[in-house]
Amino acid sequence: MTVWFTGLPCAGKTTLASALRDRLEASGVRAELLDGDELRSTITAGLGFSKEDRNENVRRVGWLAELLSRHGVVAICALVSPYRQARDDVSARHHGRFVEVHVATPLEVCAARDVKGLYAAQQRGDLSGLSGVDDPYEPPLDPEVVVGTDGRSVDEVIVDLLDYLHAL
Ligand SMILES: Nc1ncnc2c1ncn2[C@@H]1O[C@H](COP(=O)(O)OP(=O)(O)OP(=O)(O)O)[C@@H](O)[C@H]1O
Ligand SMILES: [Mg+2]
Repeated sequence: MTVWFTGLPCAGKTTLASALRDRLEASGVRAELLDGDELRSTITAGLGFSKEDRNENVRRVGWLAELLSRHGVVAICALVSPYRQARDDVSARHHGRFVEVHVATPLEVCAARDVKGLYAAQQRGDLSGLSGVDDPYEPPLDPEVVVGTDGRSVDEVIVDLLDYLHAL
């Protein structure tokens, strides 16, 4: 299957996705992490942050995830993936083998974390087009899983996620 983490910048997607990958690998399940940021230097190099480019980014990562998942590797994707339709298109191509996880950390908490300084840069006027601030972020309407990360440890969230995945 594919496990797709969507959420605002700094919501915790990469952190949770890599923790999930580690847990699955440790229990003998083959899993691959497809992180939007990392892939922007390879298969999605050259794409920017317009709506079209963000959706193309999602489409390419989704294609790779579908390929991996079809061959028995759990594809774990971490991308802001701000547009609902693009995520839904990827989901549809998985024919049910798709778990959308909304990392629903509130904007104020994401902005306070500001791991990469993007929120501060936007505030200063050095950056524009930040999802959830001055660019759209469309939360999933019916995700398989919603996780809150505020006041919760990564381990707590992962335990809940593994419970969900094991019950499938
Ligand atoms: N329960 C939690 N789950 C995930 N991250 C958490 C949690 N609690 C605190 N954090 C912290 O929140 C930050 C999330 O950063 P991370 O890079 O994972 O976000 P992201 O969603 O991948 O952002 P981006 O879209 O910019 O790549 C990390 O510093 C992480 O340690
Ligand atoms: Mg990330």
